[in-house]
Amino acid sequence: MTTREIFDTMDYGPAPEGATEALDWIATRGPAFGHFIDGGFTRPGETFATRNPATGRELAQITQGTAADVDAAVAAASRAFPKWAKLSCHARAKYLYALARLLQKHARLFAVLETLDNGKPIREARDIDVPLAQRHFYHHAGLAQLRDAEMPGMEPVGVCGQVIPWNFPLLMLAWKIAPALAAGNTVVLKPAEYTSLTALLFAQICQEAGLPKGVVNIVTGDGRTGEAIVTHPGTAKIAFTGSTAVGRRIREQTAGMGKSLTLELGGKSPYIVFDDADLDSAIEGLVDAIWFNQGQVCCAGSRLLVQEGIAEDFYARLKARMAKLRVGDPLDKCIDVGALVDPVQHQAITRMVDANTEGETWRAPVALPETGCFYPPTLITGLSPAAPLMQEEIFGPVLVATTFRTPAEAVELANNTRYGLAATVWTENLNLALDVAPKLAAGVVWVNATNLFDAAAPFGGVRESGFGREGGWEGLSAYLKPSAKRAALKPVVPFPEPATPDAPGLDRTAKMYVGGKQARPDGGYSRPVWSKRGKLLGHAGIGNRKDIRNAVEAARGASGWAKATAHNRAQVLYYIGENLSARAGEFAARIRDLTGCTAARAEAEVEASIDRLFTYGAWADKMDGRVANVPIRGVALAMREPVGVIGALAPDDAPLLGAVSLMAPAIAMGNRVVLVPSAAYPLAATDLYQVLDTSDVPGGVVNIVTGDPQELGATLAAHLDVEALWSFAGGVDAAKLEAASAGNLKRTWVNRSAPDWFGADAEGRPFLEQATEVKTIWVPYGE
Ligand code: NAI
Repeated sequence: MTTREIFDTMDYGPAPEGATEALDWIATRGPAFGHFIDGGFTRPGETFATRNPATGRELAQITQGTAADVDAAVAAASRAFPKWAKLSCHARAKYLYALARLLQKHARLFAVLETLDNGKPIREARDIDVPLAQRHFYHHAGLAQLRDAEMPGMEPVGVCGQVIPWNFPLLMLAWKIAPALAAGNTVVLKPAEYTSLTALLFAQICQEAGLPKGVVNIVTGDGRTGEAIVTHPGTAKIAFTGSTAVGRRIREQTAGMGKSLTLELGGKSPYIVFDDADLDSAIEGLVDAIWFNQGQVCCAGSRLLVQEGIAEDFYARLKARMAKLRVGDPLDKCIDVGALVDPVQHQAITRMVDANTEGETWRAPVALPETGCFYPPTLITGLSPAAPLMQEEIFGPVLVATTFRTPAEAVELANNTRYGLAATVWTENLNLALDVAPKLAAGVVWVNATNLFDAAAPFGGVRESGFGREGGWEGLSAYLKPSAKRAALKPVVPFPEPATPDAPGLDRTAKMYVGGKQARPDGGYSRPVWSKRGKLLGHAGIGNRKDIRNAVEAARGASGWAKATAHNRAQVLYYIGENLSARAGEFAARIRDLTGCTAARAEAEVEASIDRLFTYGAWADKMDGRVANVPIRGVALAMREPVGVIGALAPDDAPLLGAVSLMAPAIAMGNRVVLVPSAAYPLAATDLYQVLDTSDVPGGVVNIVTGDPQELGATLAAHLDVEALWSFAGGVDAAKLEAASAGNLKRTWVNRSAPDWFGADAEGRPFLEQATEVKTIWVPYGE
């Protein structure tokens, strides 16, 4: 045999990882498992089987959590909360550190158990899932230690309900539990029904670490158990990772319950290859993008966009590489692609792919095991942009591909999706990569790499991929709330028409302010606004759906504001302040008339409004992102981007200051707003039109629609071109607003209480965080 022949015929021998210890663990601790509640394991209740998807063999019996189980877990977490929250940062940090150490100690057992239960290649469980889970706890031990020093004025939210999927069972548990505990919360977590075992092993290490009982509770079961956690009145925050359909349902179900919510949902992430890319690296990247974990990855690079000139060459190289992927026994260390999680998932993928009638489907000619949930690596080319397989998440080892000609076309195709989780860009041209990255609608962008994750780097999506970030300081802040006392918002009733009204003077009907112009209310109705003493102050238009739609359209049209320099936005804010200052007396008189307050208070409100405009002029170019220090060759730039179009319902109690307190942070960060002023005292905001006109605010950046905040708010909440809804209006039905927002899964900030608008708590970071979205851009850097 020649050396050449040896190379040509050489193959990997089997290198199976032993499963004995893991199976022994199951046999000893199970084989039927109960929940982990209040520091101990409960007796198994009604159970279902969890199986090894590679063989179909039953591994263990898992308890289906009932409403009573969830009650018990939430009660345990609530009892544990006060003491855990009061511990010193250092004490909590030590527990997180102990958990990290124990995860490390039992790394092999965790990896094998994960592979058995989930079907992922042992190489991935061993080298990715488990080390990243450890890193998460180590990093969060640090965040716990530094919490008070770095995030003063914040406190934990309470009991966190956490529901996770089956694709990264231990890693998603780490992403959920580590920040919750570091912030000082307690948790009730439900693993996915297909993959509960590593969560139960984690429960055991919570015992080994001596974690106080009730701090971590694990309740197993299917979607019904998840629903009981999500809707339980005792959970203050819900963190969910899973499908967009369930995420939307959770948004609707929790509407009005006052829970904070973060959703990490599906994606259809583009993988863009420009013609100057290092093609072999891009091919290897693609293997990690779509065949990592059998493609069951929320941020999988599942949509290949390749520049036309290299497409044929690229597809040929790709097919050659796909033909060499080794599909088979996940416990074999030489395997690239393991088993899908369950026959249900296999059927779903098969159904989707078989229903496709377009393009060309190519399946890698690789040997598949005869039994078990295996699916061949598949490439589908020549689909139209609207084809279901180009738009829908397949969540399997199936890559769809199309071509583009120019960078602009690549961006257009990339963004042609309802999702916005991740994107990958391959090019050797630094200018091109950094030109394209900010234009992609995605929470994470990888440059010349893919599927990189780290505890220090925020992760999460935009659009229907959900909201909120996990990882780093940004992820920690999702588990904290301001500790300052706030007063409950109450509806303010406008002053009534007096028994003997003044003779009407000149008609002074304030119009709407849309696209930089005053516009009559579409419905043609207005209402009189009376002073406390019964003086007719003017009329305010009653806005309707059409007015809101016009305002949103104008706001969308003003997208150039997002690209204005921060310096320029700062200048505009200072200018608004300056022009308001020039008319301070007039505004003070108006506030006094409207609210019946003292002259001193009215003057103070105008002064505070000018001050606030200056604050956000100052912040405009200072709300920097950060560079996350990740242990992979490169850095992760956590960039702060504007959210987009924000609908804002202003408070009543300080009608000018309240409106300014919402408008100013929004526009400082590059958003456009549709502002609904106080219904009781609308004229303080409508007087702003002239100030805005004379302050170089581009038309459409600020739009003002007066009327009923409930009705206008509901229209804003349901509007698919509005990215966020903020409310500080008294008396609105939060449940209706939040439920209506589920359509495009917009970010909501519907408050039931408010800070003192004159105080320092009514400005700064909490507002700026709501006004920005973090985009994490991973770029190669250093050796
Ligand atoms: P799923 O979204 O139904 O399951 C995720 C978790 O939510 C599981 O723990 C499940 O028990 C729980 N759950 C289900 N219904 C619930 C409800 N009404 N209330 C509260 N919790 C509930 O995902 P599933 O059915 O396992 O997979 C279906 C599809 O979802 C996949 O094919 C994939 O397209 C997508 N998916 C996306 C994930 C991601 O990370 N983006 C993860 C898992 C699934």
